Amino acid sequence: MMQILIGYMGSGKSTVGKVLAKNNNLMFIDFDDYIVEKENLSIPEIFKLKGEIYFRRKETEYLTELLSQKPEAVISLGGGTPCYGNNLELLKNDEELKLVYLKVTPQNLTQRLFKERAKRPLIANLEEEKLEEYVRKHLFERQFYYLQSDVVIDANNKTVEDLVAEISKLLD
Ligand code: S3P
Repeated sequence: MMQILIGYMGSGKSTVGKVLAKNNNLMFIDFDDYIVEKENLSIPEIFKLKGEIYFRRKETEYLTELLSQKPEAVISLGGGTPCYGNNLELLKNDEELKLVYLKVTPQNLTQRLFKERAKRPLIANLEEEKLEEYVRKHLFERQFYYLQSDVVIDANNKTVEDLVAEISKLLD
């Protein structure tokens, strides 16, 4: 069984995923790290040197590859992964996985992301007010995909331990 965490940048997918995996004796796979390892370039480097279209193509290619290996794992995807190409279909049609959406408000996302925006090429150059506007619009477009998850978790103002307990209970 795979437990797959999706949600906007900064929603806590990796942080929650690590603890969720540990608690369930599963492997943890960060899909951005998976891409970085395969491409031998950081995410900002891939965007800068090869462009976003290349990144999205590789994202689909590696998602297909990873799902076909059927790892016993918790996997945190990139914020955009379910929103491009046939990725959501790939995920929805796979009976060996559960999709979990970590839902966070644009305000909370903006607060979290402003500090760590440098490593995220889509938002690296935005000022704080612009960032909130961007997140609000972008999240509105992406919710359509995120909301097709098996489980939607309100991930505002909760500890990682609470979130892990909530997810484990819902997936039981
Ligand atoms: C992206 C999110 C990032 C990374 C890339 C693009 C997006 O992952 O895949 O920068 O389109 O939302 P995180 O959600 O882990 O930051």
